[in-house]
Amino acid sequence: MQTISAAVELRSVLAEHRNAGRRIGLVPTMGNLHAGHRSLIDIALGQADVVVATVFVNPTQFGPNEDFARYPRTGADDEAMLERAGCHIVFMPTVQTMYPFGSEHGIRIHVPSLAHLLEGAVRPGHFDGVATVVAKLFNLVGPDIAVFGRKDYQQLLVVRALVADLCLAITIIDAPIVRAPNGLALSSRNQYLDDEQRARAGVIHEVLEEMRDRIGGSDEPLSTIEIEAAQRLVHAGLQPDYVTLRRAADLGDPHSGHRHDLVGLIAARLGSVRLIDNLLMPR
Ligand code: PAF
Repeated sequence: MQTISAAVELRSVLAEHRNAGRRIGLVPTMGNLHAGHRSLIDIALGQADVVVATVFVNPTQFGPNEDFARYPRTGADDEAMLERAGCHIVFMPTVQTMYPFGSEHGIRIHVPSLAHLLEGAVRPGHFDGVATVVAKLFNLVGPDIAVFGRKDYQQLLVVRALVADLCLAITIIDAPIVRAPNGLALSSRNQYLDDEQRARAGVIHEVLEEMRDRIGGSDEPLSTIEIEAAQRLVHAGLQPDYVTLRRAADLGDPHSGHRHDLVGLIAARLGSVRLIDNLLMPR
């Protein structure tokens, strides 16, 4: 595995692979890697000849009250994990490389249909930062495919919109959520939960499954299902930011009677840790 931090070196290494006709796969990350990231690498290895993982803690997707400086940076462990996973290249750029005019002053990409909803409402500017850094990574790597986890469902839709609207020839592959045995979606934030909280957090996935079952098995209004799901989380000691059923394609409000191709999305706090999860509800 090659570790590269300079853009010019990355471009020249990838040009050789491209000239040799190899398909390039990209897995963007912010590091602090866990088994969920490992699954993204495995999927990329199945679809591309050369897999590039990027490890970059992106300042522009953090709000003023979110601690960019304290985000865990575990570069050596990340490199070891990526090497074990069979990744070919890890790109670990500096902030100066990614934001030559400074992270506050450069271009921003805004995806207007999605940026203000749900996570974007709670974290203003977050998706502008995500769309901007992902566009830059696409330009630097020039991948044929890129893999994103379904866990960050809204981010996945933002990236798909970015690719469609900028006419990029990149296939976006979404990876299923990797879960702990109690259903808790794997996330870097889980390390801040104690054992008791980690066990309790399994309720989020249970609630999503109950929502799916109620949609399929009854004519109850979706709003009743949402309200009772939120109450169940509160009873379990969580503080929900949102519990909602949306159209899976664009996160719009479902029309009345529309009970298929939905996604259930939850964001809830457990102590000081904010957790997000979702479940596709096709039928
Ligand atoms: O999902 C993440 O880790 C980040 O949002 C991403 C896509 C790497 C952009 O910084």
